[in-house]
Amino acid sequence: AALRQHQRVAFVPTMGNLHEGHLSLMRAARAYGDVVVSSIFVNRLQFGPNEDFERYPRTLQEDCAKLESANVDHLFAPEESELYPQPQNFFIQPGSCYDSILEGACRPGHFNGVATVVAKLFNIVRPDVALFGKKDYQQLIILRNMVRELNMSIRVLGCGTIRETDGLALSSRNAYLGPDERAEAHRLYA
Ligand code: PAF
Repeated sequence: AALRQHQRVAFVPTMGNLHEGHLSLMRAARAYGDVVVSSIFVNRLQFGPNEDFERYPRTLQEDCAKLESANVDHLFAPEESELYPQPQNFFIQPGSCYDSILEGACRPGHFNGVATVVAKLFNIVRPDVALFGKKDYQQLIILRNMVRELNMSIRVLGCGTIRETDGLALSSRNAYLGPDERAEAHRLYA
């Protein structure tokens, strides 16, 4: 609260296992905030029952070193029991125009979980500006519209996708690809 009186806070929420895509957001944040805050939280609420919540890569120590080298001022890395101290009975529910198409249609409840945790993180960190990657374009649009429609005074910025040399977008989940899948993956970009 003291910082917020005189300084602008830029915020980059993540689920950790940071790569150059995340770090480019941290560096961009410096242009919008006197103080740069990031969060690392693997949010169970946005994973479907048969998705990869348990095996999602958790690399907090390495991530802290990367955040330091990217000049991030503060990291918020809560335990699940801190962010969800009791069962969550209130949710942000994006309209059916979002969850009936694209990733929303394949991952029922996913954007409900994303919007709910981001709203909680926004309420805790209370940033002036928040930065998200355009790689998750539907997520970016949903969060931008959530902020506008729920009158949160936060500017949501989208930043360009960082890619491997063959065009594959950087993503923590690329680690799941076997050699044959990795060889094919650049076709998505093509
Ligand atoms: O894009 C992500 O890493 C997550 O969906 C986010 C925005 C940090 C919410 O958990």
